[in-house]
Amino acid sequence: MKHVLVTGGIGYIGSHTVVSLVEQGFHPVVVDDLRNSSPTILTAVGKLSNDLFTHISVDICDYKALKRVLSPFSLDAVIHFAAYKSVRESFDIPLHYYQNNLTGLMNVLELCQTFKIRKFVFSSSCTVYGSPNERQVFENTPKQLPESPYGFTKWMGEQILADFHRNPTPFQTICLRYFNPIGAHPSGLIGELSVGIPNNLVPYITQTAAGIRKHLTIFGNNYPTPDGTCIRDFIHVCDVADAHVSALKHVGTKPLEAFNIGTGKGTSVLDLVQTFMAVSGLDVPYRYGERRSGDVAEIFANVEKSKHELGWEAQRTLEQALRDAWNWEQRLQQHD
Ligand code: UFG
Repeated sequence: MKHVLVTGGIGYIGSHTVVSLVEQGFHPVVVDDLRNSSPTILTAVGKLSNDLFTHISVDICDYKALKRVLSPFSLDAVIHFAAYKSVRESFDIPLHYYQNNLTGLMNVLELCQTFKIRKFVFSSSCTVYGSPNERQVFENTPKQLPESPYGFTKWMGEQILADFHRNPTPFQTICLRYFNPIGAHPSGLIGELSVGIPNNLVPYITQTAAGIRKHLTIFGNNYPTPDGTCIRDFIHVCDVADAHVSALKHVGTKPLEAFNIGTGKGTSVLDLVQTFMAVSGLDVPYRYGERRSGDVAEIFANVEKSKHELGWEAQRTLEQALRDAWNWEQRLQQHD
């Protein structure tokens, strides 16, 4: 297996995955129209991977164009990242989310049938567990309805894949359910690009440390957790990237499988802020605010299945992820 189609391969997790794939001897064929990325990231991925990948700019919702540009390649597998991912934005423009995320997925599956590509890795999310009854979730923890249109696109994406697998077929799928990817490549060349005010905690913290935001608001300090703030499973984006390489090596043993991609450890929002201050040596002014609607008090992964069946587990620490996030933010500021 060599040529891997990577949709959304210049996005946040996609770009780190392309670098990991090249390091492991794969040749990624990246489809990304850069709508949520930039030419700078594309160039940086080239630098980190000695340009050992192919990039094509096309909209995955345009099936005819997708088929035309990919027909010259002999593709062994697909990693499908391309999707909108902002929880907040998905409430404002739900139709765009359903249109892009679900049409994109169905087009890529159609393409797999047409080109007889038999291995598929899907970017899913722990959002498919909804508000779970248990704090730690296993892959067989019953799914619940998500809290946002974005979450529903992942939930429905998994359902589409389950239906696709109802009939016996030589097609094999792995759903990777990401917890909270954070950080950036240690080179500082690639990382998460936030457009406008960040939704997610770590970009908000790094922008506050950089003086772009006055203070961080911690959403709620009266949750039933030891310090009252929410608990999440924060994982270094390079570990998430490596999980895709493991998934590619594993896909094919069973028709459809899901794996949790987290560290297995919960960290509170307050702990994370304090760890950031310790590793950066900077003060991050913060205040407590109202709870944010849709937030689950506590969720973290059980990762035994990923460890034993994928042969993958997170290698990097929270400190390392926060150092890399800060390094990335500083580089972004230098180039602005
Ligand atoms: N938070 C703050 N202040 C902020 C931003 C976030 O206190 O300015 C808190 C949130 O309330 C939450 C925690 O930090 O408790 C993490 O929030 P993020 O927005 O960084 O991440 P979420 O856990 O909400 O979202 C993640 C993924 C989504 C996915 C969701 C599923 O980013 O893709 O988990 O639960 F849908």
